[in-house]
Amino acid sequence: MLDGRRVLLVVSGGIAAYKSAILVRRLRRSGARVDVVMTASAEKMVGVTTFQALSGRPVLTDLWTEPLAHVELGRAADLAIVAPATANIMAKMANGIADDMATSTLLAVACPVMVCPAMNLRMWDHPATRHNVEALVARGVHVVGPEDGELAEGEEGPGRMSEPDSIFLAAARVLRQGSPLAGRKVVVTAGPTLAPVDPVRFLGNRSSGRMGLAMASAAWLRGADVVLIAGPMALEPPHGPRVVRVETSIEMAEALDRELEGASVLVMAAAVSDFLVPSPSEKKIKRGDQDVLEVRFEAGPDLLVSTREQREKGGVFTLGFALETEDPIGNARKKLEDKGLDLVAVNEAGRPDRGVDALTNQVTLLDAQGVVEELPLMSKVDVAERLLEYLEKRVS
Ligand code: CTP
Repeated sequence: MLDGRRVLLVVSGGIAAYKSAILVRRLRRSGARVDVVMTASAEKMVGVTTFQALSGRPVLTDLWTEPLAHVELGRAADLAIVAPATANIMAKMANGIADDMATSTLLAVACPVMVCPAMNLRMWDHPATRHNVEALVARGVHVVGPEDGELAEGEEGPGRMSEPDSIFLAAARVLRQGSPLAGRKVVVTAGPTLAPVDPVRFLGNRSSGRMGLAMASAAWLRGADVVLIAGPMALEPPHGPRVVRVETSIEMAEALDRELEGASVLVMAAAVSDFLVPSPSEKKIKRGDQDVLEVRFEAGPDLLVSTREQREKGGVFTLGFALETEDPIGNARKKLEDKGLDLVAVNEAGRPDRGVDALTNQVTLLDAQGVVEELPLMSKVDVAERLLEYLEKRVS
């Protein structure tokens, strides 16, 4: 994903410095070259050797070892990441102070800069830090985190450095510019919706949400402003998209109605339950001595049909999915027409290596003219990448 890109990683003196070692690995695995610069305090947290081994390059700590190295590194970088970013280094950056190798290099960069703050919650909340962060944001610096949670000294609150995976995704988004989807609103639905029967029971399906999450993440990486409308699922949503949680198809319909406002693209990957119980029992249905439980389900809204007018008016390019057990192309073509889709990705149901709940998927892409492409069986992340390439072409 980041082949040939040069990342300058500045490590300052926070306990979270060990997480930056994992970030180096993640960046390198995706093809980036990583140059690490450490402050003197960072060296007290993690040894230079760790970063040297993981980056495969010398780590710079002293301004005077190679007096022009900071200028050279600053000029060559495609992205500078400061992780962890202490209150101290952000204060220096905000004020243009360059009194060591790390801060001098940061003053010499001509590329986008990202800071990943990590500190005690009161240091983060201090007016001086707030002021410095605001100054950096006003200058176009990307701020990732900090996250809420348990801090090194045992307190709870904002101050934890974001996880390496989240920082990696945020970095990839900055490095991957120029997509026609950048700045556009993309709405993605994912996971199942549930049809409650009583307070403890529901009719649901096996959807893991994996395909929808991969689509949301792939769109976010392209710079889109992504809203993920997510049904109940065990998987964590990816870093980036704004998440709207829903449970039933009615809640998903309401969320869509709000979120389609201003949207350019809708990806309808949710496995919406077609049937619902019109008035679920308010009390738990007791087994008692019943041998049979009869529940009446009625057809609920088809969200693609009910949003059709709004989508057509707003010019929302729509990708739907179709899960079929027979005549996949014929059935998908019918869905494309009946539901007003621009593109439909068809996959077969009932096979362990694709579709609902699988890690991989094999989809065939169809538009009004017919089959666009039959994609091979691959991971859902790769399928999402390919589908996003189509969306980019169509939206541009
Ligand atoms: N979909 C929807 N609202 C529903 C059911 C499905 O918007 N009530 C959307 C899905 O998100 C998907 C597309 O319609 O993008 C096709 O879903 P699928 O389950 O394959 O088809 P159904 O419309 O449910 O038709 P059938 O059950 O007859 O195959």
